[in-house]
Amino acid sequence: MSSAAIDLQGVACTFVSKDAPGQRYTAVEGVDLQVQAGEFVSVVGPTGCGKSTLLNVAAGLLEPSKGSARIFGEPLTGINTRAGYMFQSESLMPWRTGIQNVMAGLQFRGVPERQAREQADDWLRRVGLGGFGDRYPHQMSGGMRKRTSLAQTLVLDPDIILMDEPFSALDIQTRQLMENEVLQLWAEKKKAVLFITHDLDEAIAMSDRVVVMSAGPASRPIGDFAIDIPRPRDVAEVKTTPRFLELHAAIWAVLRDEVLKGYQQQLRKVA
Ligand SMILES: Nc1ncnc2c1ncn2[C@@H]1O[C@H](COP(=O)(O)OP(=O)(O)OP(=O)(O)O)[C@@H](O)[C@H]1O
Ligand SMILES: [Mg+2]
Repeated sequence: MSSAAIDLQGVACTFVSKDAPGQRYTAVEGVDLQVQAGEFVSVVGPTGCGKSTLLNVAAGLLEPSKGSARIFGEPLTGINTRAGYMFQSESLMPWRTGIQNVMAGLQFRGVPERQAREQADDWLRRVGLGGFGDRYPHQMSGGMRKRTSLAQTLVLDPDIILMDEPFSALDIQTRQLMENEVLQLWAEKKKAVLFITHDLDEAIAMSDRVVVMSAGPASRPIGDFAIDIPRPRDVAEVKTTPRFLELHAAIWAVLRDEVLKGYQQQLRKVA
């Protein structure tokens, strides 16, 4: 039996169109994807190829139409309670302060208020927001909101971290700071990470392995690259190393055609 943190076997996801109920769209098909405990894996692919769909399967938010999802060897039924999820969009509760947002998950789990506050306070400090816990989301910058979301995810100490383009809305400097911080936090505890991004530079700089998805429909992994760049890494510095450039060229050779196909499909959808 597989003991991978995440083990997707033969996964397909078919959606029924809301506008035309007879029409079906198979976003992903025949997806085999494993993430080992402690491994940092990125999935890259053209827009609309099914990256978020796969993350939703791993989170237990979406049941695959075919195939299976196993978490540490156990079949996944319902929400994946071993995983923390950082969404593509903003996910803070606007009516709660930063610290109340970070505490929320602990409180849902029944942790007493005082203890929850202490742990949330500790995580806010670790993501560089010590002293800012009383601010509401609208009083924070985009980077502060992302840091709060990160604290909200990590305070629950999940064995698996699922991240869906968490930093794509940030300016490049803030983004690099946060990428380095995530790598440092990850190095301390070595959780399994499934990281979705459309940014190949980010994927290579962060990961142990980069998986390339084909353009949809019926998207599936078409490339799997081990990133043998030593750690610890500084995401800005590694991008100038010869090995990074070699890996980038090799992966881009696979990704380029798919991005073009994905782009043409988008144009057809719009037309
Ligand atoms: N609930 C749904 N109902 C119908 N179609 C869906 C649903 N969810 C996703 N899709 C379709 O499945 C495909 C994959 O969507 P998904 O959001 O997984 O792509 P993505 O790779 O994350 O894209 P992006 O890079 O833009 O975030 C898209 O064509 C999308 O329109
Ligand atoms: Mg997505």
